[in-house]
Amino acid sequence: MDNAVANLKVNICGLEFRNPILPAAGPPSKDGATLEAAAKGGAGGLVTKTISVEPAQAPHPNMAEIRGGFLNAELWSELPKEQWIETEYKLARATGLPVIVGLGYTAEQIRELAPLVRPFADALELSTHYVGNNIAPIIDALRAAKEAVDVPVFMKLSPHANIQEIALALEDAGADALVMINSFGPCLGIDLETGLPLMGSKDGFGWLSGVAIKPLALRCVYDAARAVRIPILGVGGISNGRDAAEMLMAGASAVQVCTEAILRGPTVYERIARELNTFLDDHDYASVDEITGRTVRLMRLRGAPHSDGPPQVNMERCVLCGTCERSCPYGAIHRDNDTKALKIDEELCSHCGLCVSRCKLRGLSMEQ
Ligand SMILES: Cc1cc2nc3c(=O)[nH]c(=O)nc-3n(C[C@H](O)[C@H](O)[C@H](O)COP(=O)(O)O)c2cc1C
Repeated sequence: MDNAVANLKVNICGLEFRNPILPAAGPPSKDGATLEAAAKGGAGGLVTKTISVEPAQAPHPNMAEIRGGFLNAELWSELPKEQWIETEYKLARATGLPVIVGLGYTAEQIRELAPLVRPFADALELSTHYVGNNIAPIIDALRAAKEAVDVPVFMKLSPHANIQEIALALEDAGADALVMINSFGPCLGIDLETGLPLMGSKDGFGWLSGVAIKPLALRCVYDAARAVRIPILGVGGISNGRDAAEMLMAGASAVQVCTEAILRGPTVYERIARELNTFLDDHDYASVDEITGRTVRLMRLRGAPHSDGPPQVNMERCVLCGTCERSCPYGAIHRDNDTKALKIDEELCSHCGLCVSRCKLRGLSMEQ
């Protein structure tokens, strides 16, 4: 793909990204070599793995693919800050892409780290993962960064219960952008052969990421986008261009990808960007900005969807596969094998919408 497809360019806090698909802090950004690979793999910009004053000592095992998602018990970077400063950040900068440097966690740690990484950073991304749900220490960390450096400071939020409140408080305190969400947890997965947890952390707990958390990430981004004016970078379960489009509609100006890049390698950025571009072209959107926040705007204008009647059947698309008939909780759908038609009983149909969501051929649609 031409990495400079015009309608994929985005500008966030004065930084020009060739497309809105970035790696997230994690294994796909764990050192200079993986960041170089992300740049070659079509990423629109780079985000580096969170570092702290001391290297992390992660438990082992600390990653597992599970059905519908991914568990991890990694912490922050296991590389010392000196190695990042001497080697890894320079490799990232040499790609020519904007570099967002991940830092954690407390105000005191940020005060120490921010000036050290400033020469390599176009922006900072502060993780709040181990800071907790209290707003005060999160704001303190932001203030420490703002006082220490002159580049934009992006605040990376976990799926905190009070995310709108935190987002607003961060905007008020001068955050330049929000990044959300970090992985969700703690969660548990069990190896059935040993009976032990999949993760080697103290309790065996891990943090959930990937496809499973996409609806949670979308809700968090949407909630924050309704409350703040600063840009939001959406993270969580993005694995293709349509996921990215959804995240943009929820209110994100760009997206970050972690689990999909872990599972499929660094070419995912280019593929997701290409798929997003196809989605935009197919729907006559001229730019990414046109869809950013579309759902927020529509909900303000006309409110949530509402269906008064049963779904419409499009027999040009329907192949009478029976998926809708099998899963209709009301027994309202029947295939008529004589007439080769799909019949919906208007009395029984409750307009729940399940059949529409299950029909991947779009043979069913709801009036809204
Ligand atoms: C193995 C692993 C390590 C991660 N390390 C970090 C990290 O160091 N800093 C951070 O802010 N987020 C970290 N994350 C969270 C991701 O950046 C991302 O927010 C989360 O995984 C959701 O995105 P995804 O569904 O695309 O993976 C990590 C995630 C995984 C799976």
